[in-house]
Amino acid sequence: MMDFRSDTVTRPTPEMRQAMANAEVGDDVYADDPTVNSLQEFAAQRLGFESALFTSSGTQANLLAIMCHCERGEEYLCGQSAHNYRYEAGGAAVLGSIQPQPIENDADGSIDLNKAKAAIKPDDFHFAVTRMLSLENTIGGKALSLDYQQSARAFCDKHQLSLHLDGARVFNAAVKSGVDVTQITNLYDSVSVCLSKGLGAPVGSVLLGNQLFINKARRLRKMLGGGMRQAGVLAAAGRIALEKMPLRLQEDHDNAQRLAVGLADFPQLEINPALTQTNIVYARCKSGLSKQLKDFLADKGILITAGEPMRFVTHMDVSAKDVDRLLMAIREFYA
Ligand SMILES: Cc1ncc(COP(=O)(O)O)c(C=O)c1O
Repeated sequence: MMDFRSDTVTRPTPEMRQAMANAEVGDDVYADDPTVNSLQEFAAQRLGFESALFTSSGTQANLLAIMCHCERGEEYLCGQSAHNYRYEAGGAAVLGSIQPQPIENDADGSIDLNKAKAAIKPDDFHFAVTRMLSLENTIGGKALSLDYQQSARAFCDKHQLSLHLDGARVFNAAVKSGVDVTQITNLYDSVSVCLSKGLGAPVGSVLLGNQLFINKARRLRKMLGGGMRQAGVLAAAGRIALEKMPLRLQEDHDNAQRLAVGLADFPQLEINPALTQTNIVYARCKSGLSKQLKDFLADKGILITAGEPMRFVTHMDVSAKDVDRLLMAIREFYA
């Protein structure tokens, strides 16, 4: 089986399983789990923040961040295609009574700061109070430029907004931008990082911020049912994910590029390999046969996400050879 649907499908490595089996644990709701504590301390230091909180998922980390920065009746600015607007079940609105104000993303994934400025509500009781701008990096596999993120920081300072990063794949962004991850994360008031995507942990994310912010997030996490007890068994794998797995992400990017270049050889597909920046590849079926292609590949034990465009994601459980097998199977389909 080869699974190109997402980088969330990875299985824990033997080293992770070993660390999970041997993890020293305690009750994390009492802050007594040494493995969770060690992960949080390591994450804060690695990403350049005062404090960190281990969360059950990226969705939970983003929701906590939004609820920490905004109160009921307030709003956050975000991209129309932001994960924390489109794909998190409207949690900020449902559970936080916080209104999202989406703004169309530009082709590079950024949000035009002039449009963001126009979306900030005047000080008038008719409007929700605008509190925060949320960016995502990478977004749709694209890395935001450092210049843009610096402008977003200056914009938020000028307009007294908090700046949050959905950094589910921020290590992929750092690899693509050729910088240490702290050059990105230092620009934000808070960052959420998924351990369970390209970094390969089975479960969990970390949320980063200053101490006051993380204290508030810990209270909200409890309220949302996310206080976990002997969570060290999960944090043990998370620690390996955070410490070691960023070092191999370039391989995923190379495999994605190999796939993008291979797909561009098919006249039936529409794809520009130059647009593949990290580990996510998009291609359109000109004939609209993506569902048939997906089913054909599934019969051969290869999973992809159908749609317009189709999506292929590389990760630690698919190799360059797997990419070649996928291309060969697509050739058979079109033959
Ligand atoms: C950019 C981004 N943010 C957040 C999430 C949410 O992470 P989780 O699935 O752990 O809730 C995802 C999940 O795919 C994501 O792609």
